[in-house]
Amino acid sequence: MITLDRRDGERPGPVRPNAGEAELGYMFQPEAWGFGYATEACAAALDWFAGGHPGEPVVLCTQTANVHSMRVAAKLGFIEVERFEAYGAEQWFGVWHPVTQSD
Ligand SMILES: CC(C)(COP(=O)(O)OP(=O)(O)OC[C@H]1O[C@@H](n2cnc3c(N)ncnc32)[C@H](O)[C@@H]1OP(=O)(O)O)[C@@H](O)C(=O)NCCC(=O)NCCS
Repeated sequence: MITLDRRDGERPGPVRPNAGEAELGYMFQPEAWGFGYATEACAAALDWFAGGHPGEPVVLCTQTANVHSMRVAAKLGFIEVERFEAYGAEQWFGVWHPVTQSD
């Protein structure tokens, strides 16, 4: 499953000036881990999103202890904005910016 939802301003995490940003989520069956499917599918979803929302960033939140998820975020090109405590664990909040023609 890959989700792209508008971020709920009530959720814990950084208070961003333009709440309602698109937020990426991903969850795959364990049998499908380790083949690169998550990264490939999320990259395609981000590409699709960028096509319909030119120049718009996407945010992502995951536990720092979730090594697989952190690695997917890094491979997709998400950049750390900040870390914070929530749900009894350290959370990582990152942002992804689409590549534009001028980049
Ligand atoms: C997070 C999650 C989606 C990551 O899945 P994953 O399979 O580890 O991620 P990837 O698709 O990037 O695949 C990783 C590995 O596949 C392997 N792989 C095999 N063939 C590959 C290929 N052709 N291309 C790329 N990677 C390949 C690589 O070894 C890669 O590891 P690397 O990052 O060291 O290079 C998965 O752990 C999950 O669903 N977890 C539970 C839900 C969750 O925690 N979601 C995040 C909450 S925010």
